[in-house]
Amino acid sequence: MRKAVIAGNWKMFKTRSEARAFMDVFAPKVAGVNHCEIIIAPPFTALTTVIEATQGTRIAVAAQNLHWEKEGAFTGEISAPMIVELGCHAVIVGHSERRQYFGETDSTVRKKARAALAAGLTPIVCIGETSQEREAGETDAVLKRQISGGLAALTVEEFSRILVAYEPIWAIGTGQTATPAIAASAHRLIRQQVSEQFTTESAAQLRILYGGSVKPENISALMAEDDIDGALVGGASLDAQSFASIVKYPM
Ligand code: 13P
Repeated sequence: MRKAVIAGNWKMFKTRSEARAFMDVFAPKVAGVNHCEIIIAPPFTALTTVIEATQGTRIAVAAQNLHWEKEGAFTGEISAPMIVELGCHAVIVGHSERRQYFGETDSTVRKKARAALAAGLTPIVCIGETSQEREAGETDAVLKRQISGGLAALTVEEFSRILVAYEPIWAIGTGQTATPAIAASAHRLIRQQVSEQFTTESAAQLRILYGGSVKPENISALMAEDDIDGALVGGASLDAQSFASIVKYPM
């Protein structure tokens, strides 16, 4: 049985005081939740604020990025041990916005995922196709390439500690959610590729989150699909009431 994961990616939103105000409302609302793991990924500057606010709760905290080296002359970068010391449990790797605007590739995703795992963090590895790729019938090939390129060289044990987020780029921030059927079909393809690349058990245990315009109105239908194990929520995770409703989808 795969435990569901609902994660909020705040992207470059919220100062520390805004993060504190969010947590004051959000944490009590989800205090009784047990059916899923809850993760919040604030910007680096609000990590400690959110971590402090999650003490004594079941909410885990993720960073949105990391560098693959432990330390070094890499101005502006943050390493896995730095994130771990703050109290983070997870880190987003290879988000499409980082691939699109900051030159990340399957090769950097691979290095970052391994660095996160070595430090004991759960990498949330993001993959997904553009609308042009989908229209050209290349979705399967793109997902396969991102899995084989981004996750190559992980051992089966390392792979058992990652989460994958399927985020079709055409659905991110557009309000155009993938239908549950489209998302589930991509998730099945990902599981198939994982079973070829790792083991059938790796595929069966992998939790695959869907991301792209998830809202309180569509979360239940998405989660009703067997192959959808959770959600990575952008815009709708910025509002405490709306993110709490998403977290509480079966309640
Ligand atoms: P939206 O939910 O705003 O579409 O963002 C999805 C996303 O990119 C989460 O990482």
